[in-house]
Amino acid sequence: MVTKAETYHVPVLLKESVDGLRIKPGSIYVDVTFGGGGHSQEILARLDNNAHLYSFDQDADAEENFHPSTAKAQQFTFVRSNFRYLKNWMRYYGVDHIDGLLGDLGVSSHHFDDETRGFSFRFDAPLDMRMNRRAGQTAADIVNNYEEEQLADVFYLYGELKSSRRIASELVKTRSQKQILTTSDFVKAVEPIFKRERGKKEIAKLFQALRIEVNQEMSALKEMLVAATELLAPGGRLSIITYHSLEDRIVKNMMRAGNVEGKIIKDFYGRTQSPFKLINNKVIVPSNEEQERNPRSRSAKLRIAEKL
Ligand SMILES: C[S@@+](CC[C@H](N)C(=O)[O-])C[C@H]1O[C@@H](n2cnc3c(N)ncnc32)[C@H](O)[C@@H]1O
Repeated sequence: MVTKAETYHVPVLLKESVDGLRIKPGSIYVDVTFGGGGHSQEILARLDNNAHLYSFDQDADAEENFHPSTAKAQQFTFVRSNFRYLKNWMRYYGVDHIDGLLGDLGVSSHHFDDETRGFSFRFDAPLDMRMNRRAGQTAADIVNNYEEEQLADVFYLYGELKSSRRIASELVKTRSQKQILTTSDFVKAVEPIFKRERGKKEIAKLFQALRIEVNQEMSALKEMLVAATELLAPGGRLSIITYHSLEDRIVKNMMRAGNVEGKIIKDFYGRTQSPFKLINNKVIVPSNEEQERNPRSRSAKLRIAEKL
């Protein structure tokens, strides 16, 4: 398989996350976030002839990074879908268990670098931000139609922005005059608030919050983790890289407690009942060298767990 990974996206914690799967002969693996194909390529390189890899991505651009013209092509299946449908797709392919699942959550560098998709305030573009452009609400739909309070909640919850109420109120005022349709319209509406604060960093958080809401990233993650927990065979591994504190909390809850809420369930003897054994108690973060080389990796956290 040849990928455009170098320009599309530089894989983060590549060795650590794939080592975390502890790949075994004849087994079935899933990469739920194909992107530029960096992690998938590394997994494929480690598979023996009887093993298989299913890779998901909901973005049509990612599918273009897959070129099935190599020896390993028959051992690879690309699934152009949201990973929240993991269980249905595995059923469709007749797979009743998997031996490892890797997730490298969020968006790829390609999303930020594509001038037309609306993920970055560096470019003027339609306010879209959908990873899957065939479905769902765009960022403009949300900004123009959510109630003021709903908008404030999104910015507070996913962007941790203290000024979320003022931002929401400013957006509602602006949209009552004229719809907010582009990244520039959006930035222009909120800029007066941020000038007095930390400017670009805050606007980046605002874009992140909106993107998480557009793509319903937290609910997709929860559904996928529940399905993965059911599908994993005993001894199978979850290896998940997160970039946002809420994502990390959901992953940690599932690995520690066996549910995404983190509700600890104890047995008769008071022992915690979890379907997983933690492989790393402390999160794994990129080395200083990786963080220098790839600034995007700086917020990455890797957690690995094994199904009991
Ligand atoms: C951080 S990138 C993965 C990069 C990849 N590991 C690599 O090394 O090139 C995340 C990818 O997952 C995809 N993605 C995010 N959420 C998804 C979801 N719920 N379902 C399917 N794909 C998703 C995005 O479209 C993006 O291409």
